[in-house]
Amino acid sequence: MNNNRLRIAIQKSGRLSKDCQDLLKQLGVKLNLREQRLIAHSTNMPIDVLRVRDDDIPGLVMDGVCDLGIVGENVLVEAQAERAGGTQNADVIKLSKLDFGYCRLALAWPQELGPQDKSWFEGKRIATTYPEILKQYLERENINASAVMLTGSVEVAPRAGLADAICDLVSTGATLEANGLMQGDTILESNACLIQNPNLNDSDKLALIDKLMPRLKGVRQAKE
Ligand code: PRP
Ligand code: ZN
Ligand code: MG
Repeated sequence: MNNNRLRIAIQKSGRLSKDCQDLLKQLGVKLNLREQRLIAHSTNMPIDVLRVRDDDIPGLVMDGVCDLGIVGENVLVEAQAERAGGTQNADVIKLSKLDFGYCRLALAWPQELGPQDKSWFEGKRIATTYPEILKQYLERENINASAVMLTGSVEVAPRAGLADAICDLVSTGATLEANGLMQGDTILESNACLIQNPNLNDSDKLALIDKLMPRLKGVRQAKE
């Protein structure tokens, strides 16, 4: 991999992928994304785009493996909480909030139980991909419940007997509805955002970012 090229991490497949690709196009970054490759080289700028799992993006940017990343705040906050108090760098520079990827991290439980208040969660098991954010919420609210970590299919956990409730992302609400789950408190609201490695000091790369940022501002204003 050529170190002189600005490396941007985006989600390979998922809710943010299409919007990320569109944004890069609007910024004038020409890419050949047709092949199912990890790295796409820009044909008109010294930029390489790495397509990875969204959960890996904060770490790649914190460690400087990638210079920039586009990621949901939910994934960023979880990764920062995971690294808090440890020896690994947990800092990133948030360059901009983006106008896509809105979702909320919310609690949900089987619909047949009907409406429940916070006290219902006492002693319950809650399945989630965001155990750190969930634990902070439970502490804040003084609820004694346990987090069951699942990286996928969180919505089937109650039916499968793996947990009593879930804490998962809700966008349209279709997933909750399809799985007979009732939505409760929102723990975190999230948007996609553009992040930068705080230790980036390559002047050419910083100059390129300075050139892209006004374009990003223009794209965001045009959408208003
Ligand atoms: C989230 C969540 C649900 C879905 C909810 O997954 O885990 O599966 O979106 O969306 P809905 O309310 O519109 O049905 P997402 O694809 O964001 O993340 P993942 O692929 O990293 O699990
Ligand atoms: Zn994910
Ligand atoms: Mg999902």
